[in-house]
Amino acid sequence: MVTAAALFLGGRGSISTDAIAQSANSTEYPASGKTTGVFNDGKAALWDLSIWDHFNYFGPVERQRGYAPEQPINFSHVIHVQQNKMECQYCHWSVAKAGYAAVPEVQTCMGCHAALVAGKSEQGKKDIEKLKEYYKNGQPIPWVKVHVMPDYLKFNHKRHVKAGVSCQECHGQIPEMAKVERVSTMKMGWCIDCHRQRGASIDCLVCHGHK
Ligand code: HEC
Ligand code: HEC
Ligand code: HEC
Ligand code: HEC
Ligand code: HEC
Repeated sequence: MVTAAALFLGGRGSISTDAIAQSANSTEYPASGKTTGVFNDGKAALWDLSIWDHFNYFGPVERQRGYAPEQPINFSHVIHVQQNKMECQYCHWSVAKAGYAAVPEVQTCMGCHAALVAGKSEQGKKDIEKLKEYYKNGQPIPWVKVHVMPDYLKFNHKRHVKAGVSCQECHGQIPEMAKVERVSTMKMGWCIDCHRQRGASIDCLVCHGHK
């Protein structure tokens, strides 16, 4: 059983800017790299209604930290973002324009993979063949959503991006992830902690109201 002290300390993680700078310049996968720069270490405050969830004891797996589902194609952010220096918004083009963050369509991939880039590893080649199949058949790639939120929730990417909240404060070091992982509880207490610190609204209807 977790002690009250651990619960308390657990909710008070701090952010090291040195570590962010380091991992941004490094091609190594740092031991604790994935969660570097995540707000409050990805944990909700002590008073959160669903406090147990951030220790992975209860709740559905897809709502827990560490959730990293198998994807139909092994897409790697390490290869694309870290090694090939692609911008997030090249693929997730809507983050600064709309509430949702677009996951790229297969056409976006084909710009490079139709003819030019065939893949290096055996698995990579197979995955790129699979990618071409989806394209040829006019099928969307059935990506499995990593950040699953309850339906009643209103979340808006544009508002956060425009306010200067970085991707990594909520999603962690995506460029270090060969497979995307949920690094934060994204529980109500976690959202509200940041809203209080940054002077954003904590009115219930802002997150729970109707559009
Ligand atoms: C070459 C295109 C490409 C680029 C560039 C890219 N991504 Fe992605 N991203 C994808 C694809 C495809 C998926 C869906 C498959 C997966 O989850 O791995 C994805 C998934 C994600 C997810 C998980 C979405 C979910 O299901 O909840 C996040 C978060 C994310 N990307 C953030 C980023 C960030 C931050 C950057 C920049 C540092 C970035 N991506 C750059 C293509 C890209
Ligand atoms: C700007 C060009 C570009 C775009 C756009 C792009 N990729 Fe890639 N992709 C690369 C490069 C470069 C590699 C490295 C492998 C190589 O050099 O053969 C790669 C490798 C891969 C691999 C194989 C990894 C391995 O182990 O060899 C897969 C799978 C892949 N990409 C999927 C995707 C998917 C899915 C998308 C669309 C969401 C996408 N790519 C968009 C340039 C791109
Ligand atoms: C304030 C926290 C926060 C920030 C900052 C943030 N995201 Fe998200 N992101 C979320 C949440 C919460 C979800 C789940 C949204 C849902 O299911 O309604 C999500 C989902 C996603 C998805 C899956 C598609 C979707 O809309 O559900 C992608 C891709 C993504 N984010 C990319 C990004 C990128 C790229 C950035 C930086 C430009 C970014 N996010 C910044 C919290 C954030
Ligand atoms: C790291 C800090 C941070 C986190 C974490 C965060 N937010 Fe925010 N959020 C902000 C800031 C800053 C603003 C103010 C944007 C503005 O002033 O336009 C904001 C604005 C919003 C708005 C729009 C408010 C309005 O007045 O219309 C909504 C909705 C929202 N956040 C929902 C969420 C939800 C839901 C979560 C958790 C899944 C979350 N936020 C997590 C920093 C954060
Ligand atoms: C900044 C965004 C935000 C604000 C403001 C907010 N909530 Fe929430 N709320 C959330 C999120 C995110 C969840 C989803 C928690 C989860 O996934 O379990 C949630 C879940 C809930 C739940 C379901 C119980 C649970 O923990 O699952 C209740 C009840 C609730 N909120 C009530 C309120 C009330 C009352 C207020 C105003 C005092 C409020 N919320 C303000 C983001 C917010």
